[in-house]
Amino acid sequence: MIVLGLKCYSHDTGAAIISDQGGTLKIHAIAEARLNRRKHSFAYPLMSIAYCLASLGLDSLDDVDLICIDRHMETWPEKGSQFGYDNALKRHQPRYDDNHRWSYLVEQSIKYDPQKIRWINHIDAHAASAYFASPFEDAAVLIAEGGTGIYHGQGSDLKIIDRIGYLGDTYQNGEKLGQRRDHFVNSSFFYDKISNHLGYDIFGAGQTMALAGYGDQIPFEPLVEVDPDRFNDFIINHDKTVFGMTDVPTFEGEDSEELIANPWVSLARQAQETLEEDILYLAWLARKKTKVKKLCLAGGVALNCIINQKLIESGTFDEIYIQPAASDEGLPLGCALSGYYANGGQERKHMSDAYLGVPNDPATLPGVLDNWKLKGQNASPEEIAKLLADGKIIGRVAGGSEYGPRALGNRSILADPRPADMKNRLNAEIKHREGFRPFAPSCLEDNIPDFFQSPAKSPFMVIAGTVRDGERDKVPVVTHADGSCRVQTVNPDQNKKYYELIEAFGKLTDCPVLTNTSFNDRDEPIVETYDDAASCLLRTGLDALCIEGQLVERTAVTPSLTSEQNLKTTTARVDTEYTDLIERFCNVETYVNLASELKDKEDK
Ligand SMILES: [Fe+2]
Repeated sequence: MIVLGLKCYSHDTGAAIISDQGGTLKIHAIAEARLNRRKHSFAYPLMSIAYCLASLGLDSLDDVDLICIDRHMETWPEKGSQFGYDNALKRHQPRYDDNHRWSYLVEQSIKYDPQKIRWINHIDAHAASAYFASPFEDAAVLIAEGGTGIYHGQGSDLKIIDRIGYLGDTYQNGEKLGQRRDHFVNSSFFYDKISNHLGYDIFGAGQTMALAGYGDQIPFEPLVEVDPDRFNDFIINHDKTVFGMTDVPTFEGEDSEELIANPWVSLARQAQETLEEDILYLAWLARKKTKVKKLCLAGGVALNCIINQKLIESGTFDEIYIQPAASDEGLPLGCALSGYYANGGQERKHMSDAYLGVPNDPATLPGVLDNWKLKGQNASPEEIAKLLADGKIIGRVAGGSEYGPRALGNRSILADPRPADMKNRLNAEIKHREGFRPFAPSCLEDNIPDFFQSPAKSPFMVIAGTVRDGERDKVPVVTHADGSCRVQTVNPDQNKKYYELIEAFGKLTDCPVLTNTSFNDRDEPIVETYDDAASCLLRTGLDALCIEGQLVERTAVTPSLTSEQNLKTTTARVDTEYTDLIERFCNVETYVNLASELKDKEDK
């Protein structure tokens, strides 16, 4: 069976494909943003569909047995549509690259066999992404984000216990309730609300968590009255908390360094501590209702590494599996997995690493480098390690890309974690982001106890740990204000070549730890292709690239590239690709006729 999973609506669209042909489960997945180069892209995932089909050597959607699509909500203006006609007519470009009309036209004209389409509830898709990717056969599943869900997974069955949100049916203790409960503010919304007051949009949760890390240095001055009576079984209602926030100020400064003061740090701390309390409670409830001692976790809140650490330390569960693509980026995978097992799929595959991308073709590398007037040469891990130890900042591209928001070595910018000025260099010359945000370490699994009080296994960089007291001065770049760190543990089974590079760096420096930050400039998604990587080198202060073991160093003749030039060429390329993909996947006559009908109505 071949199943394609899609998220087509709202932010972080993308596709995932599963095949069990040959007796083992093959999985590939990608977010549209990686391909069209627009962060959190809202675009219909045509590029991702083509990418996933190509990963199995397929050309047409006819080759797919089942297409499972995230149903972001369950009431639509038109049956079976994510994009209503009225929205397409009026609300065609509200924000980001969310061209509602375009997505509607694609959806209405795409050459799918409707019999092969299944709609998957948004929260159920998150749950499937966590449970079916886990190594467990019997586990509780907790989904925490805009919606909330508690599930019990056993074998190929994933049963809803509690579920609420996104206009889907509400479940309590396994029973569908007659009355839906949609309009309330849960803890995730409260967290986002505080992030808004700190000057961030819905994607600013990471900044709020980082700011809360300054809680020990700034006196706690609570501004928000958090409702103590918010708990009602699995429904945690922060309506009263949020409606009481009438006097809470909003940060409007230009310099993000000003956020490291009150009231901002106290606000971040209140958001963080409240969310911690709520999630620990929900985990306890999931344990109580399922009576099992293993937990799978997903939903955007599962990226909060401090909460994950506390959850592990609480001992509520013996083992926890966190889906690396826990936010909406992971929904295409969840849809594909959900559809596969609901339709008789038998094979299981533990997602022990996050490298679900399709490797670039190394044969294309010389041509790509030529185009950018760059030169590559073979370099051993020892030679790359020596450059890093000499203070060089290197962008690494190897094999398949990571699924989810964390770069885990294959699309990472790497640097020495020891020099005190490296954090500022990375921020000023490359990442162009807030100085208060920490950088994360990659450390060989066996060396974790030498540097960190952290879980021995954290391959997805989603669990916080602490840098040991005596080691903080040795690795200042990866030590946050409160001594915490978000460590990635690396072993040879998950990523042999990355392991060898860190090992070589360790032999040279006695420090088997590298600073690992995602390979991208501030306003772009993580790089996917060799071209993306070369372009990033030319636009930032990166010293070199390491692409599939080839070292590409900046030289006196390396050209530079402005962000504006890059945007222009990227936009032209992406527009052409989408035009080609519409011709490939859509009924062009239907597309054109509907487009002209909408245009006519709009003009009137
Ligand atoms: Fe979600």
